[in-house]
Amino acid sequence: IDIKALRSVTGGVTTIDPGYKNTGSCVSAITFLDGEKGILRYRGYSIEELAEKADFLEVAYLLIFGELPTQEQLDKFHSDIKKHSVVDDDVKKILDAFPKSAHPMGVLSSLTSALTAFNPSSVNVDSEEEMYNAIVRILGKFPILVAWTMRKKMGLPLDYGSSSLGYVENILQMMFKRPDENYEQNPILVNALDKLLILHADHEQNCSTSTVRIVGSSHAGLFASLSAGISALWGPLHGGANQAVLEMLEAIKEDGGDTKKYMGKAKDKEDPFRLMGFGHRVYKNFDPRARIIKKAADDVLGDLGVEDPILDIAKGLEKEALEDDYFVKRKLYPNVDFYSGIIYRSMNIPVEMFTVMFALGRLPGWIAQWREMRLNKEPIGRPRQVYTGETLRSFKGINER
Ligand code: ACO
Repeated sequence: IDIKALRSVTGGVTTIDPGYKNTGSCVSAITFLDGEKGILRYRGYSIEELAEKADFLEVAYLLIFGELPTQEQLDKFHSDIKKHSVVDDDVKKILDAFPKSAHPMGVLSSLTSALTAFNPSSVNVDSEEEMYNAIVRILGKFPILVAWTMRKKMGLPLDYGSSSLGYVENILQMMFKRPDENYEQNPILVNALDKLLILHADHEQNCSTSTVRIVGSSHAGLFASLSAGISALWGPLHGGANQAVLEMLEAIKEDGGDTKKYMGKAKDKEDPFRLMGFGHRVYKNFDPRARIIKKAADDVLGDLGVEDPILDIAKGLEKEALEDDYFVKRKLYPNVDFYSGIIYRSMNIPVEMFTVMFALGRLPGWIAQWREMRLNKEPIGRPRQVYTGETLRSFKGINER
């Protein structure tokens, strides 16, 4: 990519675009999305087809390296990841230092950043081989951090899982296995988690991904860039929405299930309340991931034999919003996280862990975007501003102010 040629087209003028609503920050060949038509594709493959036919590790490979792997490539990738599926014992001490009440996203971001100290060779990576090594390292270690973060919350001793398991099966075992008990894999849960992770795996230049790219553009290491991305994802306007949705649905249920009352609050401009899980910066028709997840929520709850009144509240809100002028006019539709929490809940994942699960899914996307940015030799990200402060003033000593 000829960055200089691109600059010569765009240079010289400072545009003001708060929230970067119309500003492209890079060229990218990873994820295509058309918000008007509700299309999402990873490397040219539709999200619908990937969610149905692929598994998460294949999708991770596809996003990072650009092509679906052959069986041999996938086996090597998985085996390289497994070699790094350990975390230094001292990282446990850092985990121990957090109070049990700490939000798992803060813990995850800190532990991911801390990994840098224990893996210094992953910091200054320039060659493709060095990048590959950093990538398989973090793909091996991150699920352990995720699982440990949850086990800490639940007061369970830490578990390393088993190298004989598939990537997603191992994650479930590391999260849920009780000491001195065999963990029986439930194919319904493995499938559901696989699908959820695939649906979250990349979404072009969203807030957390742009953060990863911009931090990485200073040549800070991969783990530091990811840690910044996790922090960006935490907020309720982004990944934190999945936790916020469930808390909102729970509150509506506790309040007698009056969805109309909450629709009214969401429309009232004096009320800060927003209908969480509704609206999207790019999708102005529907979020294709939300359609897949809504169906998956029905299927998973049905397969597990779980009846959750919260699913009915969610469906009720969606129905009302689709018929409501306020929502229709502003093109506000359920996004990926409107239904995901209902599935996580049926899997017995604590609500504060929902955004951590999002981070686990988004990991390959962040990695792919970081790698692309480095391979494209993008310049350091450094937006400009339009200054609106004071003009030149002379300094007054403290007694003259
Ligand atoms: N409930 C009520 N009104 C809303 C909502 C909502 N969820 N979302 C947007 N609006 C209204 C705004 O008040 C605004 O109305 P106005 O034109 O009368 O002022 C209009 O719709 C446009 O909203 P913006 O905030 O300007 O849209 P933007 O693109 O900046 O924000 C966002 C998108 C952050 C997703 C927003 O829709 C929102 O806050 N949704 C709820 C949080 C959420 O679900 N986030 C997850 C996003 S998906 C993800 O990150 C995985």
